[in-house]
Amino acid sequence: MKKHNFSAGPSILPQEVLQQASEAVLNFNDDNLSLIEISHRSHPFMEVMYKAQNLVKELLEVPKGYSILFLQGGASLEFLMVALNLMRIDGKAAYTNTGAWAKKAIAEAKNLGEVIILGDSSDKNYTYIPKGYEIPENIDYFHCTSNNTIYGTQIKKFPNCPTLMVCDMSSDIFSRRIEVSNFDLIYAGAQKNIGPAGTTLVIIKDGILGKTGRKLPAMLDYTTHISSKSMFNTPPVFPIYVSMLTLEWIKNLGGVSAIEKINQEKAKLLYDEIDRNPLFEGTANKEDRSNMNVCFLLTDNSKETLFNEMWNDAGISGIKGHRSVGGYRASIYNAMPKQSIQILVDIMQKLEQN
Ligand SMILES: Cc1ncc(COP(=O)(O)O)c(C=O)c1O
Repeated sequence: MKKHNFSAGPSILPQEVLQQASEAVLNFNDDNLSLIEISHRSHPFMEVMYKAQNLVKELLEVPKGYSILFLQGGASLEFLMVALNLMRIDGKAAYTNTGAWAKKAIAEAKNLGEVIILGDSSDKNYTYIPKGYEIPENIDYFHCTSNNTIYGTQIKKFPNCPTLMVCDMSSDIFSRRIEVSNFDLIYAGAQKNIGPAGTTLVIIKDGILGKTGRKLPAMLDYTTHISSKSMFNTPPVFPIYVSMLTLEWIKNLGGVSAIEKINQEKAKLLYDEIDRNPLFEGTANKEDRSNMNVCFLLTDNSKETLFNEMWNDAGISGIKGHRSVGGYRASIYNAMPKQSIQILVDIMQKLEQN
């Protein structure tokens, strides 16, 4: 039996994508060669890269004047690259501190210049999204995290930004519509809504680079990757191929607005049960709740063993909460079927009757 995979990342991918990907590993394009043993400069792979980049543009309605890159090093390397490429020597940037990943991004930037923290939810263990802060003009850039994977909070309305706006969208990209033109740089590790771990999507506006006064190593310089169309060195061919398949899958479902609607329904199904059932409580501020990562606790710890047995027996996997929050975290990314969430909800209801 295929498990109901609620893992936070690497996480569930559409079944048909996994099927197509496994076929391509054995025999790509009926050429009797594996996708992962052909040259990345070969026409068939260049087509994959080109198609993946175009699907990103199409699905997110990326306006002209942006480059699409598939890099390596995870979102964690972007924490550093953003600061290296955008923060002037002796410069200043502003960050929101909304969770463990934001904190890591802040730490990298602090090594290179001054960081001001504009919104900070660490006082309540990151259970809410800070709002109402004013972003100053005289900084190099503003950085935020759209969805806090560990704490289950999500920015619903992005702030007005008078300077460059950079966003880590690792755990909610392609799950909802975004206005790309409001951002100057977006990055996202692939391993939630895009594909397997191993590539990081970067969407970057032309003209924002080369202003720091800093000389960069080629691999850490976005201009290197832009000028070589994301092919400066051997790209992660398999993750990019699977990303292309996942983006095609989203397109076939009706695009990002269609999947956003489905995601809202799926999240509502689970949050409604958490709010209705006296045995459970959500950890995140209601208005800031993430539609991707649903964090909740049992109100009666004496039920813990039974609940764990019940979901385990039902083939549910990956819902243990992160150690810094405890309880449970159901990650319900794009590829998570509504039926799997219904099974979890049924178990929560059965637990109440027990
Ligand atoms: C929001 C967010 N940012 C950054 C990261 C780090 O990504 P990576 O492991 O690709 O470096 C994660 C990982 O889960 C994440 O959820």
